[in-house]
Amino acid sequence: MGCNKKALVALIGSVFMAGASQVLADPSALMMANTCAGCHGTEGKSVGPASPNLAGISEAYFIDSMNAFKEGTRPATIMDRIAKGYSESQIESMAGYFASLPVYKASVPHDAGKAQMGADVYDKGCAKCHDENGALADDDAGILAGQWLPWLKYSMADFQSGHREMPKKMKKAVKKLSDDEIEAVLHFFASQK
Ligand code: HEC
Ligand code: HEC
Repeated sequence: MGCNKKALVALIGSVFMAGASQVLADPSALMMANTCAGCHGTEGKSVGPASPNLAGISEAYFIDSMNAFKEGTRPATIMDRIAKGYSESQIESMAGYFASLPVYKASVPHDAGKAQMGADVYDKGCAKCHDENGALADDDAGILAGQWLPWLKYSMADFQSGHREMPKKMKKAVKKLSDDEIEAVLHFFASQK
């Protein structure tokens, strides 16, 4: 009896250890994420101005984005086709990986004067939902700080053209702004270090 119990404890222990090491280095999430690196960079640090950094993105926002691309409710040049290649559980697994990385702010060429004017626009219209100058993942509204300027502009253009549905209260804030003010606040996000 005692002997069997020992064996059982050892067995449970080894199963637990196997589970724990899988959590630490989920190879499948990393392997999948590596296929994104051509555009989103290694460890989610985007190499091209048209692709967003994914490092530090919240799990909820990542999953929502991938599903919206899949379903065609969020406009895409390429992500609709890519997202369709992944199952729900694969998307969740990648979400965990990208969310575990520290937020990355690229050194983005920007106009310092516009960024300064944009700080004011940000405080009045965007700070409430895009906290910490757009770097707070917990907002579940995307990482805006340190994103490439062309990506920020495409993203905003999709909203303003109505191709992508804007959250109601964000729409209210954006409607009050001139084109110059919107341009300025995007430079402000791009200027974050
Ligand atoms: C060929 C380039 C390319 C590849 C490869 C690629 N992406 Fe993208 N990704 C983009 C572009 C461009 C966008 C902007 C939306 C669009 O135009 O499709 C984007 C947007 C996203 C977004 C939205 C992020 C945000 O902040 O709004 C997520 C999430 C994403 N990609 C995840 C992935 C994942 C996961 C992979 C790998 C499985 C991947 N992408 C592979 C180019 C790429
Ligand atoms: C009431 C809250 C709210 C306000 C105010 C707000 N936003 Fe947003 N914003 C959101 C949410 C939520 C999302 C994610 C939308 C989605 O899931 O499609 C978002 C998404 C975005 C995106 C796209 C990010 C991505 O990864 O694709 C940009 C760019 C953006 N907001 C810019 C702004 C700017 C600029 C302002 C100020 C003028 C602003 N927002 C004000 C809630 C807000």
